[in-house]
Amino acid sequence: MQITYYGHSCFEIVVNNKKILFDPFISPNPLAEKIDIKSIKPDYILLSHGHYDHVADAIEIAQSSGAVVIANWEIVQWLNKNGVSNTHPMNTGGKWMFDFGKVKCVAAVHSSSLPDGSYGGSAMGFIIESHEANFYYSGDTALTYDMKLIGEFRTLDFALLCLGDNFTMSVDNAIIAADFIKCRKIIGMHYDTFGFIKINHEEAKGKFANQGKELTLMEIGETRNY
Ligand code: NI
Ligand code: MN
Repeated sequence: MQITYYGHSCFEIVVNNKKILFDPFISPNPLAEKIDIKSIKPDYILLSHGHYDHVADAIEIAQSSGAVVIANWEIVQWLNKNGVSNTHPMNTGGKWMFDFGKVKCVAAVHSSSLPDGSYGGSAMGFIIESHEANFYYSGDTALTYDMKLIGEFRTLDFALLCLGDNFTMSVDNAIIAADFIKCRKIIGMHYDTFGFIKINHEEAKGKFANQGKELTLMEIGETRNY
């Protein structure tokens, strides 16, 4: 599976030849200044919650690409009001079969308001299941016992976990989350972008390795097969 990192919690993952963009926050992110959002043409955009650092470029990329945007009910209302009509509303606990695979919305313990101050619904994570691979995208969340449900009922090839602390799980909490979801290959997200969430990369990777797990921290703009 081909994965490209655009900084913060934004990834483009190619699943069954469809490009899926998660939580686009690129143009306001100084760490991602070399990325031109006009070059990003996804087939789908998934939004985990309404915070600005997850939806900043969603409207512009949705309009320029024609992508289907998958998000909770409240975020879809906000998109519709702002000129994005190609949307698919979901909510926590629900699943839907798309042409690339199955999306299951799972619990995230986090707040969610939209950039205009309106209510952003509940924050969610996503499990994507396809013929190629199964993975979990945590969105912003605290460590929660609900993650054990994922480990019990799903088989994951890899997971993208937030681990910058302050707003979300820390590195130490993400290691426990990896145990809960029974997945040893982890890609980190939601770190370094702002002062509150800077992490020590080598220390974080070492902590995962000590627990028999592999932490990947991708370079912004990097693409790799995973
Ligand atoms: Ni957030
Ligand atoms: Mn965030």
